[in-house]
Amino acid sequence: MPDIHAAYFTIFLICLISSILIFKLYKSSSVKPHLPPAPFRLPIIGHLHLVAFHKLSNRHGPVFRLFLGSTPCVVASSPETKEILKTHENDFLDRTENSVMDFFSYGGKGFMFARYGSYWKFMKKIIMSELLNGKTLDFLCPVRSDEINRFIKYLSQKAKDGKYVELEGELMKLTSNVISRSFMSKRCSEEEDESEDITKIIVETTEIADFQGFGNISKDIHCRFDALMERIMREHEEARKQEKGEVKDLLNILLDISEDDSMEIKLTRENIKALVQEILIAGTDTSAITIEWALAELINHPNMMKKAVEEIDKVVGKNRLLQESDIPNLPYLQAIIKESLRLHPTGPLIPRQSTKDCTVGGYHIPANTTTFINVWSMGRDPRHWESPLELRPERFKENQLDVRGKHFKLLPFGSGRRMCPGTSLLGLLMLPTILGAMIQCFEWKAGENGNLATVDMEEGVGITLPRANPLVCVPIARLDPVWVI
Ligand code: HEM
Repeated sequence: MPDIHAAYFTIFLICLISSILIFKLYKSSSVKPHLPPAPFRLPIIGHLHLVAFHKLSNRHGPVFRLFLGSTPCVVASSPETKEILKTHENDFLDRTENSVMDFFSYGGKGFMFARYGSYWKFMKKIIMSELLNGKTLDFLCPVRSDEINRFIKYLSQKAKDGKYVELEGELMKLTSNVISRSFMSKRCSEEEDESEDITKIIVETTEIADFQGFGNISKDIHCRFDALMERIMREHEEARKQEKGEVKDLLNILLDISEDDSMEIKLTRENIKALVQEILIAGTDTSAITIEWALAELINHPNMMKKAVEEIDKVVGKNRLLQESDIPNLPYLQAIIKESLRLHPTGPLIPRQSTKDCTVGGYHIPANTTTFINVWSMGRDPRHWESPLELRPERFKENQLDVRGKHFKLLPFGSGRRMCPGTSLLGLLMLPTILGAMIQCFEWKAGENGNLATVDMEEGVGITLPRANPLVCVPIARLDPVWVI
């Protein structure tokens, strides 16, 4: 009898141990997260390589993983990124953490790098309903047109002298003057120390504002910007004591809000400084480079240049300078900007961060994963675009394609709640106005001597997709701009 008991006990033990083992094996294989493919560790130190990302996504699929230095990241490069930006929008509303941007945003006290939450929502409300709303932008329209007039006069002088213009630098001055004047009533390109400093700070920031950045240089730029903003804010505060209630610029609006005790959140000096710096960085370079790429494309496509100029001549005529109010009547010009942004998006990689574990494209994305939406790759994907590398502004006429984050194969301004707040009024109004005025008033001959038939379209490195070689052209007057203005 004891032998039978022992045998039963042994069988029972074997069954128990094997069930536990089978259960463990099953459990470990069933819950093992199905992570996106990870090709290899990229020894990237400075810049992100769009072409490398594009090739990796062709080889490994629309969602893949890699390590940038020591940071694990996911890159998504297909319109299925709709899952990130729409289906799981709530889980990807934070920005990628970045030590350099931490300096510029005073540790997330601005807007662009603020965590999604009550403070970000408060700031978004201020930006959309006070700073970039239609009324304020109408009020600041004279600032934008004055800056465009000055730019056209400058080009006109170059045309008279037969001199070339280095466009990126000049367009940067124009866009930073517009933003800086709108915010602080200061021009950047005035011969004053303060104004020169603003331009230098923007240029230096965009040069180093990579996703990894350089610690000491960032600290230096941050300290200079902080001192400059303190001076400008104190000047504003002094002036406000004298001119009670008069709103002259966006800084006045922000100071009003900061003094309003009924606000749900108290806006601090650091919040204001961080926001101003972020907007200068977010709006200046992107806008200038977009116009530069679009003009380069038109120089290489003279038939499209001709069509755009004919449209302007028909709608605006030759007796006045094109204005923002003409843009709704210039669909071809608008289409050129959009098509150029498809090929040369100046926000080529949208940085987001997952806040929760979730599944994208069938893959597990853990919480706190740095995630890049590869806008650049999506705009060139042959599965979604016919002849993707060809410039065809007509695409926008035929398909009613929108660039405001609804069509997930084309996201130059991002999508959803964290989409670019400058899209409609500045991106889609100011940019075509500047490009339109440039081609209305001048013919553009490429090269220092104006003798190049085409310009190269090589891309440089940097988070705003600059050209590798600056666009240098000689403007030839079509109209007498001084008379037109
Ligand atoms: C051609 C011009 C521009 C392009 C291509 C561009 C592109 C972008 C992109 C791709 C994003 C990220 C969106 C996302 O995460 O879904 C963004 C965010 C942002 N942009 Fe722009 N932008 C441009 C002009 C401007 C201008 C003129 C301003 C200033 C008024 C501006 C202010 C911002 C801000 C503050 C954010 C952060 C939004 C947030 O985190 O909630 N941008 N932009």
